[in-house]
Amino acid sequence: MTLGTPQPRIDGPVKVSGAAAYASDVKIPNLAFGVLLCSTIVKGRIAAIDTSAASAQPGVLEIITHQTCPPLLRPTKPIPSQGQSLVPLQGPDICYYGQHVGVVVAESFEAACAAADLVKITYTPANAPTQFAMTKSAKAAGGARDLVWGDRTVSPTKAAFTVDQQYSTPYQHHNPIEPPATTAIWNGDTLTLHDSTQWLAGVRMLVAALLGIAPANIRVISPFVGGSFGAKRVVWPHVYLAALAAKTVGRPVRLAVTRTQMYTTAGYRPQTVQRITLGARRDGTLQSLQHTATTTTSEFDNFIEPAGAKTGMMYACPNGRSSRTLAKVDLGTPTTMRAPGESTGFFALECAMDELAYAVKLDPLKLRLLNYAVVDPTTKLPWSSKSLKECYAKGAAQFGWAKRKATPGSMRDGPLLIGMGMASAAYPANRSPASASVSLFADGHAVVQSATHEMGGGTYTAMAAIAANALGIDIRQVQAQLGDSTLPETTVSGGSRTINSVGPAVEAAALQVIDRLVALAIADPASPLYQAEAGQVVAAGASLRLKSKPSCADPIAKILSRHNLPSVQMSASTAPSAGASKYSQYAFGAHFAEVRVDPDLGEVRVARYVGAFAAGQIINALTARSQLVGGIVGGIGMALLEESVVDPNIGTFITRNLADYRVPVHADIPPIEVILVPEQDSVTSPLGTKGVGELGIVGAAAAIANAVFHATGKRLRDLPITPEKLLAPDASQTRATRRRRSARG
Ligand code: MOS
Repeated sequence: MTLGTPQPRIDGPVKVSGAAAYASDVKIPNLAFGVLLCSTIVKGRIAAIDTSAASAQPGVLEIITHQTCPPLLRPTKPIPSQGQSLVPLQGPDICYYGQHVGVVVAESFEAACAAADLVKITYTPANAPTQFAMTKSAKAAGGARDLVWGDRTVSPTKAAFTVDQQYSTPYQHHNPIEPPATTAIWNGDTLTLHDSTQWLAGVRMLVAALLGIAPANIRVISPFVGGSFGAKRVVWPHVYLAALAAKTVGRPVRLAVTRTQMYTTAGYRPQTVQRITLGARRDGTLQSLQHTATTTTSEFDNFIEPAGAKTGMMYACPNGRSSRTLAKVDLGTPTTMRAPGESTGFFALECAMDELAYAVKLDPLKLRLLNYAVVDPTTKLPWSSKSLKECYAKGAAQFGWAKRKATPGSMRDGPLLIGMGMASAAYPANRSPASASVSLFADGHAVVQSATHEMGGGTYTAMAAIAANALGIDIRQVQAQLGDSTLPETTVSGGSRTINSVGPAVEAAALQVIDRLVALAIADPASPLYQAEAGQVVAAGASLRLKSKPSCADPIAKILSRHNLPSVQMSASTAPSAGASKYSQYAFGAHFAEVRVDPDLGEVRVARYVGAFAAGQIINALTARSQLVGGIVGGIGMALLEESVVDPNIGTFITRNLADYRVPVHADIPPIEVILVPEQDSVTSPLGTKGVGELGIVGAAAAIANAVFHATGKRLRDLPITPEKLLAPDASQTRATRRRRSARG
């Protein structure tokens, strides 16, 4: 088993046959069903709750409201896995539309829904102004610290060429195909939660703190997650309300959030309004750069979408500043979504670079090569590895970038305008401490165990591949057990860190198994390897072998049986190396998009797409490609379709199903070619990986927006790029830019 070779998913058969049990699929005897009641006002108080008609319905077990809910604990310090600080059902006050105001528990989901419709809640709305979008009057809250590098007095507006523009992105929702769901089972004082989560330990941590039970008394099980994109990274109130409901009725309770409730239950991406000011010399060399972002958050939490936080690392611009501020709106708390900060920030940066390319009359790819950063300009640290030039070269060659005509609107396909756009991508190579164990059995099979997560990315297959490679056995001989908090603890599966964090722990445990077997063999007169030097023995083909003479081999099964061992099991905990902080660690990539635009209808179709990415060692070329294609599909959605619309008269998102919230479907997706540029990274992880979970979406929306400009000459700076915006008479002056009349580009 060699790392990097394409491997079909080992969990594919259970998934496609429906045998894989997700959080709301597990069969539990005596199960009751909870349904959330959600507020239908934005701000105010609950005046009265009448549950009489609902309680009289057949099958209703309990209706929990703030009048009956036991108090939940208030943790003295913030808990990192808490999605929102507002704990519902603790009083009559309402802070946003959709705030949970009750849980109806019944014998069936249908009975719970029917009863929920009969609960009469009377509200006293607050006589206070509400705000749902970023406006000049949005109340500013604290922001993240500014990032300043080089000379802050060098103003981009004094340069020979300046691009000074505003870019904006709308509210967006994750919309995983599996909405959040929790099944809670109490057994005396111990609690088992089947939960759809990216962070088993985070669920345990928060539920323990709010319910006042020992973390050791909580087991969280999550073997499969049906997509997440950041929505299940932190823990939302329905999780602990499910546990509370199960305690109240003395039966297991399943609480599955509905698609519509998902829009107000598990976070969303906040709005961003970003201003980028680039200053360049006549030839296009960047001299200074400013990137400021304002993003929305809830009244009660300061969630920062870190748009622009990574702007300074991208190009060799000696001077710059980036800063972020928050604007408070009357919605629930937003959260991380699909490369939070990078996907929004690179939309602005990579469009601004495209605008600069036209201003200085340089090919957009040449402009990026001219400003190629050989060290991280913000920290002056060297890169752990960077093969972006290869990404540009291979992507451009595959795409046929050289055939692009420079003038916007100059390429046609019959009545349709052709546009070609490109953008750079970068995503940090994150790594956290993690643990795993590996067992090798006498019959030749192995078991990998780790409390990490499979949310569609291919974690089962990747961990099995890493173990098989280290043990010198076939991947089909490896079973992976994941998604259970009783297994060795790992980290949140967020920030594209799973392979960098858990991969090394699996490899270390597997290598320890081999070390143990080598020690047994070289001390055993019955072994052909007796008295060999440990360093001269390697594992290959289910045997230990002499490096210098591979035919001198001792089968692993024989070593175990000679020592009467049914198996050898080893556990390992790994963490980033101390020296890693001396490097700037990123995966990089380049996007090339071709669009067709109908000038009469304003319809944009992505016709062709090439992405070239360098993310260190690839563990499984098949699933890595799928991850990157998924990121690009997310980028196409971000560019052309996705937008959560708030109706201020109602006070919530009115796009709250998959008909109104538009995500790309197969017919929207062109052939996507992904090039995996070979690379090794010796800093981030001993496996050489950097992660591919979010890299594919970073820059994708900009490549498409740049292609739309190339096709039409219209610069749309406010996502999504819709036909009505493209056909607007002032299409280059979108909603975002109109507010800043002084903008020039
Ligand atoms: Mo991911 S959006 O970092 O959970």
